[in-house]
Amino acid sequence: MKKGLFITKSTSQLIAESNDDSHGLKRVLSRWALVSLGIGAVIGTGIFVLTGHAAADYAGPAVALSYVLSGVGCLFAGLCYAEYAAAIPIAGSAYTYSYATLGEFVAWLIGWDLILEYLFAAATVAVGWSKHFIPFMRDFFNVDLPEKWCRAPLDYIDGHIVHTSNYVNLPAIFLIWVISWLLVVGIKESASFNNLMVAIKVVIILMIIGLGWGYINSDNLTPFIPENTGKFGQFGWSGILKGSATIFFAYIGFDAVSTAAQETKNPQKDMFWGMIGSLAICAVLFVLVSIVLCGMVNYKELHVDAPVVYALEKVAGDGLKWLRMAVEIAVLAGLSSVILVLLMGQPRVFFSMAKDGLLPPVFAKVHPKYGTPHITTIVTGLVCSVLAGFLPLNLLGELVAIGTLMAFSVVCIGVVVLRKNKPDMPRPYRTPLVPWVPAAGAIICVGQAASLPQDTWVRLFAWMGIGLVIYFLYGIKHSKLRNQP
Ligand code: ALA
Repeated sequence: MKKGLFITKSTSQLIAESNDDSHGLKRVLSRWALVSLGIGAVIGTGIFVLTGHAAADYAGPAVALSYVLSGVGCLFAGLCYAEYAAAIPIAGSAYTYSYATLGEFVAWLIGWDLILEYLFAAATVAVGWSKHFIPFMRDFFNVDLPEKWCRAPLDYIDGHIVHTSNYVNLPAIFLIWVISWLLVVGIKESASFNNLMVAIKVVIILMIIGLGWGYINSDNLTPFIPENTGKFGQFGWSGILKGSATIFFAYIGFDAVSTAAQETKNPQKDMFWGMIGSLAICAVLFVLVSIVLCGMVNYKELHVDAPVVYALEKVAGDGLKWLRMAVEIAVLAGLSSVILVLLMGQPRVFFSMAKDGLLPPVFAKVHPKYGTPHITTIVTGLVCSVLAGFLPLNLLGELVAIGTLMAFSVVCIGVVVLRKNKPDMPRPYRTPLVPWVPAAGAIICVGQAASLPQDTWVRLFAWMGIGLVIYFLYGIKHSKLRNQP
């Protein structure tokens, strides 16, 4: 066991922690509940909005290949997650796995980094939900919500934060509070709500694919890979790569399944299915939706707010009006379940960090009746609602992808380290073809992160800097592992 900043948890300690059920969380989730949580977290803004943007700006109809490329990167990372999640089924996910391999300092950084993936992403998606909620209320109920109360008072334009005449984004705040309340009341109740939202969105997506297929015009799909304009990332193969970094957001969330490890009936067997099963289902749906979307209208027209609705309107006029309205419902349902699973993941990472002494002990409290980490859920919900209600989220949204890619890369590298450092640790599931699969996963993730703007990297380092200050002021002194006799 290494000492100092890079102190790691021993195999026996990890096994004892994962077998210890005195934490108070309830083991109620089945294999299918996990698959549903994964789909719940994944299908959201990405497929409904970013597909159109990536096709119009970078990849053309070959955005389907961007989905394949990004999906392969996620699959490799997912296979690495699965080895860890089965061997160390503890709620901290990538944070816990790093503690076992790369040491406390890296674990803290990854735990801090996961805030970008879960908390910031939930706030970003809540703002997107609010944008769709305004036209939904107008179209379905003839209610015009006052825009000033549905948008943040600050905006981020051309690198500057500016004041707007808006007051606050109340629908986003309201939704986050309702979902946080559900998450406090129980994991089973939250999973049931998620199942309903997932059923709605998957059925409507299957309808889009089935009915849209008949409207595909093969001219729109030829050439499938538009010729590169001479600039990196503008169509051609480099466009497919850039497109894959753009739509990566669509895959974010499947790993949040691993934060439910301590509430899963049989995590050793079911974690793999929860993560890889949901990822595979979503990848197939994503590729099919992108082919149908680019087949219905010319990809150049797809940089609009709601590309799927736009394409259906264009090909069928009023013929598929009911489907267009159903898509609006699917988007609202879809985004609510994304927020639910992300807001489920964040408190569980905080919970694990507090159990290890890196955050105050109050964060490790579990509600005596509901069996949920209620304090961290409420704190997460409050912070998330302030971000969503008042801040310009295009500023924070960019950070979500880079934060997630960083966590994925560390998990991939960690699997190889774990095989070397703890070869005898029981592994109910083993990542295939180590070190090749983790290496390929890390390379694809780092490649996608490298294609993100430089400003995003600067913000990532600034965020990590804040994390370092907190670690050296608090975590290092209170770490249970460092202070054990
Ligand atoms: N994958 C989620 C979405 O697309 C975060 O909204």
